[in-house]
Amino acid sequence: MNITVIGAGYVGLVTGACFAELGNHVTCVDVNKKKVGQLQKGILPIYEPGLEAMVVSNIAESRLHFVTSLKEQAVEPQVIFIAVGTPSDKGGAADMQYVEAAARDIGSYVKNYCVVVDKSTVPVGMAECVKAIIQQAIKLRKLNVKVDMVSNPEFLREGAAIKDFMQPDRIIIGLSSKKAKSIMLDLYLPIMRNPEKIYFMNVQDAEMTKYAANAMLATRISFMNEMAMLCERLDVDIENVRIGMGSDARIGNAFINPGCGYGGSCFPKDVRALMRMAEQQGFDPIILRAVEERNFKQKQVLYEKLKHVFGGDLSGTKIAVWGLAFKPGTDDMREASSLVLLNDILTQGAHVQAYDPVAIPVAKHILSPQWLASGQVTFAEHPYDALHGADALVLVTEWMSFCYPDLAAMKKLMRRHVIVDGRNQYDPKQIREAGFEYYGIGR
Ligand SMILES: NC(=O)c1ccc[n+]([C@@H]2O[C@H](COP(=O)([O-])OP(=O)(O)OC[C@H]3O[C@@H](n4cnc5c(N)ncnc54)[C@H](O)[C@@H]3O)[C@@H](O)[C@H]2O)c1
Repeated sequence: MNITVIGAGYVGLVTGACFAELGNHVTCVDVNKKKVGQLQKGILPIYEPGLEAMVVSNIAESRLHFVTSLKEQAVEPQVIFIAVGTPSDKGGAADMQYVEAAARDIGSYVKNYCVVVDKSTVPVGMAECVKAIIQQAIKLRKLNVKVDMVSNPEFLREGAAIKDFMQPDRIIIGLSSKKAKSIMLDLYLPIMRNPEKIYFMNVQDAEMTKYAANAMLATRISFMNEMAMLCERLDVDIENVRIGMGSDARIGNAFINPGCGYGGSCFPKDVRALMRMAEQQGFDPIILRAVEERNFKQKQVLYEKLKHVFGGDLSGTKIAVWGLAFKPGTDDMREASSLVLLNDILTQGAHVQAYDPVAIPVAKHILSPQWLASGQVTFAEHPYDALHGADALVLVTEWMSFCYPDLAAMKKLMRRHVIVDGRNQYDPKQIREAGFEYYGIGR
């Protein structure tokens, strides 16, 4: 099949590369010329395990192409995916400017029937707006071209994106046209040999499914973080509580790890967008508001623990930070908990020595130039280099390489022996026996 993917970010690039890997002819269109130039040479602008090799081999086999405009593509697509960003606007609603621009581009380009698939996470009713924009642009060209609109929200997780795309739990497809249904089945059956796991529904139901799923996962995290904060006050170990809760088949183990808050490009903005959708309907989203508020507070917990350790005064301290990405397996730092911690402790006069296996280039790009230029933040090439002369280590992102630290070596490197474990990765007893002060979340 000939496929176009608009937007070559985390979702668009994975979608394009995976469909090409399955033998389709794919063109990814992105307005970012620098990004497209790099991608044409097989250089990836993001870190995602396994993606670079897949992109390079599919470029070499002429199944994957990158262009900056729909008009540059060599073949007409049967399916066009929209995978552009839908960040929060100032009021917290999903900002539709990129989706609308993509819709206008499609309308001023299509010559023949095609299926337009919304893969971006968009508010309920947006597919209808996209269709109206496309039809309006087609009408201006005095053409009579039919397009069918499909909502196919994406559920991949950064860090495991290829596996999630190629072996999904389920595929959600919202549509109302038989022709589009048959095309979507052709497209997805090679991935999902179990057709009963492809759930067809109407477009709005599919749009809402994505928001409700993300809000549910965010709710589980915030709920557990609230329990953790209560456990600290009751002198109870949340990790035992978590294991006890998770073993209940009705609850399960997923998304109940307490920590220093959720970040990333999805949960925070999607919870906010869902709240705005509710408010626009005159409905008060009580639970969503609490989920967001708990997460906001949770991101400050690491700073509060450090303040407690240093008697309220962080000036002149050296803090080692392990992990900057919002989660392991990605270089994405959008709404990462590390950003809140860094902002809090740098403002209070601490010096930060940070290490992350892949996110340092992103951090250098987004942190305040003033902190970088003054040397208040420095980056280490190795996790242990970040510990030189440090008064405390804060673990923010639970990369696997942090799992078994050499405590004896760390002790020699650090000035003061404090570990703040933002993801409950370590056994407090073992850390304390090695001569460190240990502060976890809810324990
Ligand atoms: N990142 C994830 O893990 C994830 C998972 C599931 C769903 N989603 C959703 O998928 C969508 C995309 O997310 P992302 O993380 O890939 O975003 P991203 O910011 O990484 O990428 C978006 C890309 O779209 C490009 N773009 C913007 N406007 C364009 C236009 N008019 N034409 C062509 N290209 C354009 C940008 O240059 C950018 O490269 C969002 O709605 C997001 O909520 C993301």
